Amino acid sequence: MEDLKSKIVSTTNLDDLETLRVTIFGKKGVLAAEFAKLKDIAPEKKRDFAKELNETKAALTEVFEKQKAKLEAAALEEKLAKEVIDVSLFGYEATKGSLHPVKATMDKIIDYFTALNFSVESGPLVENDFTNFEALNLPKNHPAREMQDTFFLGDGQLLRTHTSPVQIRTMMDRKPPIRMIAPGAVFRRDYDLTHTPMFHQVEGLVVDKRGVVSFANLKAILTDFLHYMFGDVEVRFRPSFFPFTEPSTEVDISCIFCEGEGCRVCSHTGWLEVLGSGVVDPNVFKAVGYEDVSGYAFGLGVERFAMLLHRVPDLRSMFEGDIRLLEQFR
Ligand code: DAH
Repeated sequence: MEDLKSKIVSTTNLDDLETLRVTIFGKKGVLAAEFAKLKDIAPEKKRDFAKELNETKAALTEVFEKQKAKLEAAALEEKLAKEVIDVSLFGYEATKGSLHPVKATMDKIIDYFTALNFSVESGPLVENDFTNFEALNLPKNHPAREMQDTFFLGDGQLLRTHTSPVQIRTMMDRKPPIRMIAPGAVFRRDYDLTHTPMFHQVEGLVVDKRGVVSFANLKAILTDFLHYMFGDVEVRFRPSFFPFTEPSTEVDISCIFCEGEGCRVCSHTGWLEVLGSGVVDPNVFKAVGYEDVSGYAFGLGVERFAMLLHRVPDLRSMFEGDIRLLEQFR
């Protein structure tokens, strides 16, 4: 009995204790063997024998349960110690993506015009001579074609040099009134600090019955648009030339770097050119078969806007996909 007790108390894990339990309390265990002796014992001694045996069993059970509780507690303790989380370890940082500054700028421009009920149109990147030039009052051999260094693809096809052909396609497709913008990629043979062979433009066109829209509307909407984009800047309309508009103006804002004082970015003029625009030339309406209408149009380079808004000095960096540049725009 004392021997069994000390065996129980000296177990060090639950498996050993379980083996011991079977040896002592099991069907073929020590206690069962003792109880089996009862039938051979003289009747007058049976009672005392059974009583003693039951006491022994109760005592062993108590020791066993105590030991079991002790070992279970120790096992749990050990498990908890093993599973402890070291909060001082470095975790994995979830990286946050961001919109490319050109895309973000494009979205901002589109938001402005869609809020004013402009539709968003698109056209093919591979254009033909008619839609890219001819219908925009740029006949063959017209010197203004020189302004746009074209990638010719042969068979009269070319990569569009501006988004203005989407004006033509939309007007050929649809009756007036028209109130549209056309954002998208354009291509020119150019590569330096401020030019890349592919860049993005947003073209705008508003057409209605003759006399409904005027240069005054153009001036008002573009002034408001530039305030929306650049905040509190001065806006000026400067006479210029585009074959598809007459009169034509280029639109400048006061330099956002020097606030009009004159600096390297604005070539010491105090002004930054940001838009081309004008009243649609009658020859353009003639090319698409529109009559008795008037309208205005404008076009802008999205990268130029993005560069000014984010003060990026080299346009080419916008297309190098350097993650370190993009991370700055999160
Ligand atoms: N298409 C011109 C360009 O690529 C931009 C432009 C200027 C578009 C004046 C217009 C406009 O619609 O009226 O440089």
